[in-house]
Amino acid sequence: MKNIETTVGIDKLAFFVPHYYVDMTDLAIARNVDPAKFHIGIGQDQMAVNPITQDIITFATSAADQILSPEDKKAVDMVIVATESSVDESKASAVVVHGLLGIQPFARSVEMKEACYAATAGLSLAHDFVALHPDRKVLVIATDIAKYGLKSGGEPTQGGGAVAMLISSHPAILALNADNVALTQDIYDFWRPTGQAYPSVDGKFSNSVYIDAFSQVWDEYCRRNDAHFADFSAIAFHTPYTKMGKKALLPKLETEPEAVQKHLMAQFESGIVYNRRVGNLYTGSLYLSLISLLENSEQLSAGDKIGLFSYGSGTVAEFFTATLVPGFEKHLRKTEHEALLNSRVKLSIEAYESMFEEKIDFNHNTKFADDAAYSIEEIKDNHRIYRQK
Ligand code: CAA
Repeated sequence: MKNIETTVGIDKLAFFVPHYYVDMTDLAIARNVDPAKFHIGIGQDQMAVNPITQDIITFATSAADQILSPEDKKAVDMVIVATESSVDESKASAVVVHGLLGIQPFARSVEMKEACYAATAGLSLAHDFVALHPDRKVLVIATDIAKYGLKSGGEPTQGGGAVAMLISSHPAILALNADNVALTQDIYDFWRPTGQAYPSVDGKFSNSVYIDAFSQVWDEYCRRNDAHFADFSAIAFHTPYTKMGKKALLPKLETEPEAVQKHLMAQFESGIVYNRRVGNLYTGSLYLSLISLLENSEQLSAGDKIGLFSYGSGTVAEFFTATLVPGFEKHLRKTEHEALLNSRVKLSIEAYESMFEEKIDFNHNTKFADDAAYSIEEIKDNHRIYRQK
């Protein structure tokens, strides 16, 4: 007989970032900008850069491979890939990811899009599916490459990488509380028409829309749930650059007792340790911040409630909460994540610029060489062929 208890949440989670980065001091000097603007004003120290042989699919498989056991691969009924850097207008990257990971065949695989927000919709879908099928699991992956163009206003807020989350009943890390408050507004703050290489962005306006969206969903969440900041052990934010969440949180905290302000701001800093070293992951940014919080805060205990603010330009925003499960700390991957970040190769600005400009030509069959666990091995007959080491 099936166990029908339905505490559903994040059982396992991991991130992957490409093996190259740029130091923000180097970028500032090359762009004739005071380095303090990037390190303090924007809040970024390093920025992930990907070679032509790495894309959202290799990021996704490299993240998911870290957490999936052979039993998980038999139990996953749905693979959801959230991205705004899709490599195909028709075929879902989730189908390729499903095949490369060796997930059992009778599964559903789909790609979801709404700027940086879509993984949150994926998590909700996964939650509801597992609540109805508690012996099954769902793999949710947020994977993106954030590129605005060399010497563009958004250049210091680029980045890339993926976060993989396995959703199950009896989760080992976080129970999702299904108390989500979403907000949709038809606004052009950041968008990318089909076929356009880089996004169009109204940078300052996008900041103010983000800040206003947080204010609206937070207020509505409090109204519906009689909630207060003091109920939360921490709040994790979508992090296009690390100063952004702070700009949204600080004005809302102004009327709170000093102890609440201090606690939430200290937790905020734990939540941006990894993001400072990677830059924007678009869909994965909130979840990278969540991992950073869990792995770097020393002020978290089982039963603590964590708030999560998800934001996708265009716009959809959502506030929701999760509760830490007893023993959660034993299921984190801090050592592996730090090793991944520390093993990356620092690029000169010249090397970054030439890597940035590389493009795949689908009209010519080409072979590539890359030693990473997953990479693009070949372009053949107008499609990508991947290699698993
Ligand atoms: N020392 C310290 N701080 C300095 C400084 C110095 N020498 N010089 C400037 N600063 C500070 C500024 O005071 C400013 O701080 P505040 O925001 O607190 O006022 C900060 O550095 C940035 O300075 P500017 O506003 O002048 O920077 P900018 O014109 O270069 O634009 C940006 C910054 C708008 C974030 C731009 O990089 C951009 O357009 N990025 C992409 C869009 C984006 O990330 N938007 C976020 C919301 S949208 C979203 O969340 C979805 C998504 O993922 C894209």
